[in-house]
Amino acid sequence: MAGTPRIAVVTYDARGEEHKDRDLPVLVRALRDAGADAVAVAWDDPDVDWAAFDLALIRSTWDYSWRAEEFTAWAERCGKATRLANPAGVVRWNADKRYLGRLAEAAVPVVPTRFFAPGDPLDLPVDREYVVKPASGAGARYAARYPAGERDAAVRQAGRMHAEGFTVMVQPYLTGIDLHGERALQFFGGRLLHASVKGAVLAPGTPYDADKVAHPDLRPWEPTAAELAVAERALAALPGDAQPLYARVDLVTGPDGEPCVMELELIEPNLFLHLHPVSVPAVVAAVLAAVG
Ligand SMILES: Nc1ncnc2c1ncn2[C@@H]1O[C@H](COP(=O)(O)OP(=O)(O)OP(=O)(O)O)[C@@H](O)[C@H]1O
Ligand SMILES: [Mg+2]
Repeated sequence: MAGTPRIAVVTYDARGEEHKDRDLPVLVRALRDAGADAVAVAWDDPDVDWAAFDLALIRSTWDYSWRAEEFTAWAERCGKATRLANPAGVVRWNADKRYLGRLAEAAVPVVPTRFFAPGDPLDLPVDREYVVKPASGAGARYAARYPAGERDAAVRQAGRMHAEGFTVMVQPYLTGIDLHGERALQFFGGRLLHASVKGAVLAPGTPYDADKVAHPDLRPWEPTAAELAVAERALAALPGDAQPLYARVDLVTGPDGEPCVMELELIEPNLFLHLHPVSVPAVVAAVLAAVG
């Protein structure tokens, strides 16, 4: 590519409120310092000419999960107008957490999950504590934790989610998270960039409509060999033609003491660059390489 690369760093429209993405200004500035013409733009801004950019880098489109169809349609459109990272195929695959079922089929350890689409009769655990959450979610929105045998409140939550068109996920509450936290392994350009760990988000009895702290007690983490191996297996199980520029693999300790995948974040992961400032040059290099 000749000349100065034009890069759209794609985010959400804060609508006058304080913008919540701490990585965004760091990344835009670092890309500019590296000679790129980088600007932050909202994915749903109708005035953006995506074809005017050499790359659209999805950064923090954090309002997508309750507008998933609109968002994946945007990704398809944007991916035709310019190079999109991650590509639209990756975005579509990752926007619905039923991908956890695909990973399990590929023998990747994942949090055991059952899915109930609108209209499906609910089957709730009676012998263990459990979590109910949407198959399209972010920021722990609509996630709740119930004691064994609790039914009425979970049925109400599922009814509300089904009415809004969400598929409901039911998982055992993994108590390993209370001891070991949740580890986030961040990859960029195909390599491990850094890792972080955060505490458990769902205190006992957390109702689905409570405001949650998304990243309690967040700190840097040195991943174990077992965590790295599971993360790499998860990434190797992605559908063939869809290779991500960036990926975050969130892991919790399962009942067997081994790491399992809670979530694969291929759309708009927090990078937590404020915890890992030494990673900034590697991110910039990978983004510039992706421009081509
Ligand atoms: N099965 C579970 N066992 C224990 N804790 C869980 C479980 N499922 C979810 N949680 C807690 O709820 C949080 C949010 O769940 P999850 O990551 O699946 O949803 P999300 O809405 O995509 O959240 P985020 O965007 O913040 O990562 C997790 O970080 C974890 O603390
Ligand atoms: Mg998560």
